[in-house]
Amino acid sequence: MPNKDLLVVGELNVDLILNKIEGFPKIGTEIIAENMNVTLGSSSAIMAANASAIGINTSFCGIVGKDDFGDFIRKELQKKQVNTDFIEKTTKHQSGVTVVMNYNQDRANVTYCGAMEALTIDKIPWNHLDNFKHFHLSNFFIQKGIRKDIVSIFEKAKSYGVTTSLDLQWDPENKWDFNYKECLPHVDVFMPNEAELLALTKTTTVNNGIEEIMPYANTIVIKMGDKGSMAFHNGETYQALPYANPNYVDSIGAGDSFNAGFIKKYIEKQPIETCLKFGNLTGALNTTAAGGTTAFSGKKNIIEDAIKLFNAEI
Ligand SMILES: Nc1ncnc2c1ncn2[C@@H]1O[C@H](COP(=O)(O)OP(=O)(O)O)[C@@H](O)[C@H]1O
Ligand SMILES: [Mg+2]
Repeated sequence: MPNKDLLVVGELNVDLILNKIEGFPKIGTEIIAENMNVTLGSSSAIMAANASAIGINTSFCGIVGKDDFGDFIRKELQKKQVNTDFIEKTTKHQSGVTVVMNYNQDRANVTYCGAMEALTIDKIPWNHLDNFKHFHLSNFFIQKGIRKDIVSIFEKAKSYGVTTSLDLQWDPENKWDFNYKECLPHVDVFMPNEAELLALTKTTTVNNGIEEIMPYANTIVIKMGDKGSMAFHNGETYQALPYANPNYVDSIGAGDSFNAGFIKKYIEKQPIETCLKFGNLTGALNTTAAGGTTAFSGKKNIIEDAIKLFNAEI
């Protein structure tokens, strides 16, 4: 049966990326961008696309508008061999869009959430869940329809016998209203980055952050940018040093690509050290090309680049 390893539940949007912009936009004026790209956006979709690119049979559950952007999103995922049968098209909302204004190393983003807010617990294909091995949910804070039921979603997923993971991502409102005490017991792998862990736990060091959530969590994985990653499991601490990066371009989507790599080895029931190391590899590979998916185009390229750049095997 195809596409039955990983189910990613999450938000979908296009990124409308403006490059080479003359100065900063001011209210009441107009400026020119010399270059524009429309690409598949959203961290959940990047994770799913790259998971599929490294050989995980992946399905996506999400919502798009019944519009051209919605069709584009589905087609881009299909090009990456992600199963889109569980992506609903709605006439009630338009597809989500993020306008990205690039200024050299920095960016200003404006997101219209649109259909992504309409994803709710009842849209998850529960009657197919026991065919999957792993359930991953990403970008909790911006999915209003998912937020209220997050505990039930993970509790229910576990009842179907799958393993589960959660990447909250950043809270744009900076309120960090996530019930970790009730939710994390049903999450096998909790995957924040360092800044997200500190913001969620209102602490200033990783150790204090871990201490706060450890009583409720199973495996905690912390992504630490060019410092690599750590994991905490059964009272043990694991650390994986980063791959030295000869070819850094940007880190858009690095955490999502890390998730894809980590989960691949996790599904294969490899030890935590192996999962961390492989996450570091796919995270590092992500940073060697523009945006979240460029470094993952074509199985042959991925394998060759991993050997050439990092002397490592995908
Ligand atoms: N400059 C870099 N060099 C090598 N590896 C990196 C670099 N930036 C990110 N990574 C890898 O990607 C992972 C995820 O990146 P990070 O920026 O921590 O996540 P997020 O995108 O969620 O903020 C890191 O844990 C690391 O393994
Ligand atoms: Mg992230």
